[in-house]
Amino acid sequence: DTSKLWGGRFTEATDRFVQRFTASVDFDQRMAQEDIAGSLAHAEMLAAVGVLSADELAQIQGGLEQVREEIQGGSFAWSVELEDVHMNIEARLTQLIGATGKKLHTGRSRNDQVATDIRLHLRRAIDDIAVELGRLQLGTIELAARHADTVMPGFTHLQTAQPVAFGHHLLAWNEMLERDHGRLADCRKRLNQSPLGAAALAGTTYPIKREMTAAALGFDKPTENSLDSVSDRDFAIEFCAFAALLLTHLSRMSEELVLWTSAQFDFVELPDRFCTGSSIMPQKKNPDVPELVRGKTGRVNGHLISLLTLMKSQPLAYNKDNQEDKEPLFDTIDTVRDCLRAFADMVPNIRPRQDNMREAARRGFSTATDLADYLVRRGLPFRDAHEVVGKAVAHGVAQGLDLAEMDLATLQGFYPQIEADVFEVLTLEGSLAARDHLGGTAPAQVRAAAERARDLVQSR
Ligand code: ARG
Repeated sequence: DTSKLWGGRFTEATDRFVQRFTASVDFDQRMAQEDIAGSLAHAEMLAAVGVLSADELAQIQGGLEQVREEIQGGSFAWSVELEDVHMNIEARLTQLIGATGKKLHTGRSRNDQVATDIRLHLRRAIDDIAVELGRLQLGTIELAARHADTVMPGFTHLQTAQPVAFGHHLLAWNEMLERDHGRLADCRKRLNQSPLGAAALAGTTYPIKREMTAAALGFDKPTENSLDSVSDRDFAIEFCAFAALLLTHLSRMSEELVLWTSAQFDFVELPDRFCTGSSIMPQKKNPDVPELVRGKTGRVNGHLISLLTLMKSQPLAYNKDNQEDKEPLFDTIDTVRDCLRAFADMVPNIRPRQDNMREAARRGFSTATDLADYLVRRGLPFRDAHEVVGKAVAHGVAQGLDLAEMDLATLQGFYPQIEADVFEVLTLEGSLAARDHLGGTAPAQVRAAAERARDLVQSR
């Protein structure tokens, strides 16, 4: 069978296995709507420059409309023999409208066609993902604003360090997400140029108007160089890099939620609808959603490495290797979308167990630094204050007493100038309120930071 769209120079049919091996239609058919949009823009431009007649354009438009309906309605017969989404659609168009269908590919190649389709497809995905990311950010910020006064232990080395506001911790999550938003917006900016018109690699002999197709497809402008246009997949790598970092952030949040929902921490509760049970242990309520998001980070990181490795050392311009860009990219899109959706639904419904968090902050000498700072205000150099408080902590460890539980005489035994006002300093509220500067955990600062973060997200 040499009846392929490209079969002219062939004298034998493609090997059946090779046909299946080289086909991409199973996974690239999800770009069908973008492929049709690209074809319509291309045909309109060809008519505008006189390569197609008005009548031919009308036929192509009508035919592509019908193809679109068949695909959306599920009646379109995808064929592996036609290799990919592009040739499936073109072949069906020709079946529907006859010889005029064969003119659509004038001045175009699948190489600029596929580059255009992927950009359009990814652009739409980016816009959806930006909405979900914004929803997660707002949910996180609202929860933070409600818990500007809720005390929890802050950790370093996963050991109790200093008390922080739960809202402050949540706003730290939001900072990671805010940077992710910036990376996504930046990726979209560079992606939004039209490769259409580069044709196979060198451009085309027809008097095409690349600005026209670029504008019709919502691109900012045409790409600059035809060779680069058909070989560049930076935009896919940039998106996957964004995704890997976003998922890395979600995995860190997930890890904390898994810890915090454990009986040993018992800091927060997740609604039942985000958890599952055990088939054998009746008491179990497992934090499956955060665990799974944590796990999916591995596959997204893997996709980034796949794409980097795919492009490494590829000579210009188009190579069939690039057909391998789609599955990692598409799976990254789907995974990011699902993870963000799960998190955006779940995070606003996290229920902190305020008493437990407070109690945990009270243990572990979390206000030891506050006592050292108090001694500095009494004239002691910080290093000496550190030493004095260290001795007091050692005493507390031996006696099972927190600093605030020691009486004044005991504390004065470590440093005579300590006075009764020290107990104010040793409270959790005092510790939080004292860190009253930009970026600090004082409740007033947390409330102001939440306000600024909300304004920023809502301004876009
Ligand atoms: N299915 C191909 C891809 O995904 C389309 C471009 C094919 N071009 C070619 N010259 N074989 O990359």
